[in-house]
Amino acid sequence: MAISPPTERIWWKEPIARVELIWIVIAFVWGLVMFSMMIYWHGAGEQNLSSEAYKIKPQAFAQKAQTMIDQYTVRQEGGFPVVRPPVGSDVYLIARLWQWWPILELEKDQSYRLHLSSMDWQHGFSLQPVNINVQVHPGYEMVMKLKPNQSGEYGVVCNEFCGIGHHTMVGRIYVVE
Ligand code: CUA
Repeated sequence: MAISPPTERIWWKEPIARVELIWIVIAFVWGLVMFSMMIYWHGAGEQNLSSEAYKIKPQAFAQKAQTMIDQYTVRQEGGFPVVRPPVGSDVYLIARLWQWWPILELEKDQSYRLHLSSMDWQHGFSLQPVNINVQVHPGYEMVMKLKPNQSGEYGVVCNEFCGIGHHTMVGRIYVVE
């Protein structure tokens, strides 16, 4: 029992049981495999969605998003502006307690530059059902290329716990033909 002191004071000099030694070797080798996978996936995994990030004050980001909203809002849905920005343009999505603002409407097979940032604290951009995940932090603007290849309605779920309204922080992106 670990609760009582070992019977032999110099316990670390006792021979290691064979089974334990095997497990130590397996765990160590597996650790090395996992570690090299981090490096491998960095290049081969196509999981680095955001290769661009900038420092930005939340107010400055909100300003840029608002400019886009003012110019390209096409309708309202439940108090949210639905914004249809021009093909190829910079589109902005604000994360804040507890909403994704605004609703975006994008065209299929067209490229956009999606900018993400938070107004308050950490949120998680999780695009459903395609399962793309990006952390969203205040003070940082993450930029990623986006080219929707399927039309439909996508949900944006917050996947970083951000307080009492976390579970209600659901946004929407439409992809139209
Ligand atoms: Cu935002 Cu959880």
